[in-house]
Amino acid sequence: MNTRKKVIAGNWKMNKTSAEGVALAQEIVAAVGKQGAVEVVVCPPFTAIESVGRVLEGSEVRLGAQNLHAEASGAFTGEVSAPMLRAIFATHVILGHSERRTLFGETDEGVNRKTLAALKHQLRPIVCVGETLAEREAGTTLKVVQTQLERGLEGVSREQAASVIVAYEPVWAIGTGKVATTEQAQEVHAFIRGLLVKLFGDAMAQRIRILYGGSMKPANAPELLAQKDIDGGLIGGASLEARSFLELVAAAAK
Ligand code: 13P
Repeated sequence: MNTRKKVIAGNWKMNKTSAEGVALAQEIVAAVGKQGAVEVVVCPPFTAIESVGRVLEGSEVRLGAQNLHAEASGAFTGEVSAPMLRAIFATHVILGHSERRTLFGETDEGVNRKTLAALKHQLRPIVCVGETLAEREAGTTLKVVQTQLERGLEGVSREQAASVIVAYEPVWAIGTGKVATTEQAQEVHAFIRGLLVKLFGDAMAQRIRILYGGSMKPANAPELLAQKDIDGGLIGGASLEARSFLELVAAAAK
């Protein structure tokens, strides 16, 4: 039995106005704001992040962003930096999500710069990796995940690694209703754990949380979360309603 605290993180993506986000956050705080058994994180869009953060104040629910720019400030129109996120009490940031990689041209090198910036400013990066359907069918899943992980975490020190969270999100399972089987997910999670052992040593690798993402729902979560190397979930669709999100938190608390 490991001692890793499970994480349930809601990635709201481009959903919820500020007012809608506040309402959802209020329901979440009312239900799980005082529990500490599971690390609960909500990641609203930038326009809602500060107002949602105010709702979370004094609770155990953590605030995350969906992206950041690697520089602290400057002429980067449309971007938001790590110090800006820290100033509104964000603690987590999703980096390298497959939607950012495929739709916005993010590279492993860019994800790496952002990861180092997040760590420098005491934000916990949730570094996303995962293969496309074509890559899985070509049998290159582990190779793809290895490249993304090793490049994404380049230059991260052993002490910093304690703050890193990895999310395995098979691209073909995101928003499609097609969840990876528990065997498929556990296989990749165990492989990632092995890579982390090589990068940071066994003791540190046993502390790092590896989340599964891709159509995780209350119905399939208990089995996924029971796997040895699955330490929580990065949730899209099911994080947009309090009821399903809270059921996932409950499943992780078991
Ligand atoms: P879904 O849960 O909607 O499949 O999204 C997963 C995801 O991309 C979380 O980051």
